[in-house]
Amino acid sequence: MVVSSRMPISREEEEALNDYFLDNSYVEGFVTSQADATLFDLFIVTPSQDLYNLHRWYKHIASFGSDRLKFPSLKRNCVTLSVNGIKLKMVNKNEEEINGQEGVEQQQLSEDIVDPWNVQASSNKGIDYDKLIDRFGSSRIDDALLERFEKITNQKPHHFMRRGIFFSHREMHKILNFVEAGKKFFLYTGRGPSSESMHLGHLIPFIMTKWLQDVFDVPLVIQLTDDEKYLWKDLKLEHCNKLAYENAKDIISVGFDINKTFIFSDVDLMGGAFYKNVLKVQKHVTFNQVRGIFGFDESSNIGKIMFPAIQAVPCFSSSFPFIFGEKKDIPCLIPCAIDQDPYFRMTRDVAPRLGFQKPALLHSTFFPALQGAMSKMSSSDENSSIFLTDTANQIKKKINKYAFSGGKDTLEEHREKGGDCEVDVSYMYLRFFLEDEIRLEEIHQQYSSGAMLTGELKNELIQILQKMIFDHQARRKAVTDDIVKQYMTPRPLNFSIRKQ
Ligand code: TRP
Repeated sequence: MVVSSRMPISREEEEALNDYFLDNSYVEGFVTSQADATLFDLFIVTPSQDLYNLHRWYKHIASFGSDRLKFPSLKRNCVTLSVNGIKLKMVNKNEEEINGQEGVEQQQLSEDIVDPWNVQASSNKGIDYDKLIDRFGSSRIDDALLERFEKITNQKPHHFMRRGIFFSHREMHKILNFVEAGKKFFLYTGRGPSSESMHLGHLIPFIMTKWLQDVFDVPLVIQLTDDEKYLWKDLKLEHCNKLAYENAKDIISVGFDINKTFIFSDVDLMGGAFYKNVLKVQKHVTFNQVRGIFGFDESSNIGKIMFPAIQAVPCFSSSFPFIFGEKKDIPCLIPCAIDQDPYFRMTRDVAPRLGFQKPALLHSTFFPALQGAMSKMSSSDENSSIFLTDTANQIKKKINKYAFSGGKDTLEEHREKGGDCEVDVSYMYLRFFLEDEIRLEEIHQQYSSGAMLTGELKNELIQILQKMIFDHQARRKAVTDDIVKQYMTPRPLNFSIRKQ
């Protein structure tokens, strides 16, 4: 059945939609779009409470008020919802007016998409990380690894690791073996500088990396891929390069040891030993291989096709002779979000053929968007995330207004049934940033039992984020151009490869 913009929705269709919203946050899946606004306008009255999922979706869209007119347009011309044999076709109003015709029908995803350019879950419970471990062939960060980590470092593993925020790894045991033998490794992570405004999600790998640097007392290289962003985005090369230096300030503000950290822009470093290693990788990886891993095709620009070689080489200590001298076999550990794994699968594949060590990896899950979208946050949608430049007031407003709530609609119902921590974005954020294990557990209990209200939960988060961002901004203010230059100058770092 086709629902045009003016036909009221029948009970039968409401039930079908209710089923649909059991597994989908929004009409288009996991971000709001004009399709939500269109569907919303079809309702003459609020759908009844017993259609719980539809009711929740409706209230959520209603909470945007007239802001829903600003939801992005559909990427597709129309979406077909096929539920219980009923087809609901939602046509984007704007496109209808412009094109006067319907476009290709798009079905729901049957599998999560996770690659360096797309992260999209097929269910609103988010990415199925267990499945990803199977698909990618990595290993789970399990209790045995955590115990060994603690024994060797004499430190309780970071709460990101204990709480499954960093959930997967490759060859972390090899790194621990090295440490046990009194040898050192080095850390490598990076960022693609595509916008000035970094958000909370961007900080996660850097927070983890700083902690690892402190615990293991090891050197760190941070790659800023201004070249990558130039090749993939509609941006000027000079602009990408400038963004690299801007972003470096936020990265430095995480607190990396200036004596042990080298930050670099690809555009400015390329040449010498680094480029020699790029060439070696290029010669040993075929187009067929990168096509298989990254999905390039004949119309991809040739810069993209060779770029994976550039993200690969910082894993090899011989790329940085000014840091590692003659040492060509120092192992590397890369903390990163799991979407970067394809680069390092390729790297691990080619490394032995070049006589280099395979890098080890620690993979993180994605930081959820405020709307409960279980995909990565977007720098282009300012309401999808908390930015490092947000004021205390903006933080408060965004959390209160946009953070998807697992709370119930009425006070009585909430007190009786309790909130759902599994879908509640404020609670998810607390898992990232509230270190106090006991308090977190208390909140979980009180919120799930209904003793704690959404407003109280949000308040606790707001206080933590306000302090965190305030401190970050204070540190960033102190990062002068001269300090950036120091971090970004090729130079020896202060460390010894073998402990005395
Ligand atoms: N490609 C990454 C991005 O777009 C940046 C990056 C380069 C990176 N090297 C890395 C990320 C190593 C993690 C680890 O953000």
